[in-house]
Amino acid sequence: MKVDVSAVEQAAINSIIPELEKAHDELLSGTGKGSDFTGWVKLPGTRDRDEFLRVKKAAKKIQGDSQVLLVVGIGGSYLGARAVIEFLRGSFYNLRRKDTPDVFFVGNNLSASYAEQIIELVGDRDFSINVISKSGTTTEPAVSFRFWKTLCEKKYGKEGARGRIYATTDAARGALKKLCDSEGYETFVIPDDVGGRYSVLTPVGLLPIAVAGIDVDELLSGAAEMMGICAVPGLENPAWQYAAARNALYRAGKTIEVLACYDPDFVFMAEWYKQLYGESEGKEGKGIFPAAVSFTADLHSMGQYIQEGARTLFETVVLIENSSGSMAVTSDPDNVDGLNFLTGKSLSEIELQAFRGTYLAHMDGGVPNLVVSMDKKNAQSLGKLIYFFEFACGLSGYLLGVNPFDQPGVEAYKRNMFALLGKPGFEEEGRRLAARLDK
Ligand code: PA5
Repeated sequence: MKVDVSAVEQAAINSIIPELEKAHDELLSGTGKGSDFTGWVKLPGTRDRDEFLRVKKAAKKIQGDSQVLLVVGIGGSYLGARAVIEFLRGSFYNLRRKDTPDVFFVGNNLSASYAEQIIELVGDRDFSINVISKSGTTTEPAVSFRFWKTLCEKKYGKEGARGRIYATTDAARGALKKLCDSEGYETFVIPDDVGGRYSVLTPVGLLPIAVAGIDVDELLSGAAEMMGICAVPGLENPAWQYAAARNALYRAGKTIEVLACYDPDFVFMAEWYKQLYGESEGKEGKGIFPAAVSFTADLHSMGQYIQEGARTLFETVVLIENSSGSMAVTSDPDNVDGLNFLTGKSLSEIELQAFRGTYLAHMDGGVPNLVVSMDKKNAQSLGKLIYFFEFACGLSGYLLGVNPFDQPGVEAYKRNMFALLGKPGFEEEGRRLAARLDK
């Protein structure tokens, strides 16, 4: 994996080195803000062997007895697994002919129409459920789990359902943990010191990812390799380069980062990245706003803004080197579209030139481009990329001076929603809010 930050002046990067040294030290020694939640830093090297083997065993069982796995979770308890599955197995994973179960993600919204569509898609097929919640109290997955648990018990009986429901939650706390203990579900633990958006390499992500037939050993081995690389302080460290470059740009007024990739299978990786950076950095009136585009599709929608809109953007392109696929442009005897000059050229070659042309155009338009290159589209390289983004995010948060591991702002909507729904104890507040909305 390589990071190209040549779009940023070396002097600007160098000026951040002393802050980076401090941030690096705080992250590795667990002495910075939010240090109770830095367990992910050493996770790929210290994973609980027994827990990991249980995850693999459960995945095998689900592959054997289910045609569908329903993953109930939201935010960090959902995006990582979906991102890895769609990137490595393709965004059409559920539509493909395969010998692993379909994986549907539920409990990540409150839409009745979404829920109805999933019910229809599951139909009368055999299914298992993996309910994931670190706090065990999040409304969206809790409401969804009530529903799917009832359906599962109706179909398989209480005892049968017990063998099909897997929970991933805190070791001791939360309503979900209590429920698991009373119902006897197989339970996987989210380590205390790993927050939701940093949890894809724990059972949170690993169980659904393994069910989809992805080699979780390779994913973790890539992450462990990058952990070794990121542990070394200095500007050779790709996470240092990236964190320094994006912070230098932010300080120069580039407050929006657009993550771009030319592979549509990357769309959910970008969603995962947006949560990671948005929730880690966006606080105390600060933070780079993370946006994402999928090229070349979005060159025909957002491309105009990127080229000529408000000059507050910089772009980070994730480039996948050694793209597979040999599809080439066919010849047309009439050449009405004038494209015969492309005959025999592979789509990968055309895509590469699209990237090179776009890079120059956007740089010329005043949008600095950082480039993160992955060696290959495989589990090993993806493990590296995941750890790289996590480590760089921790560093970046410390450079900004915030706690990158909390999310206090997420509570505001929940409180209002509960009050408006008439939660006991919130009645007065509910009346006040309703009066404001209804006037
Ligand atoms: O990163 C985070 O901590 C959050 O986005 C959580 O993942 C999200 O709110 C879901 O929380 P929980 O796993 O407690 O249901």
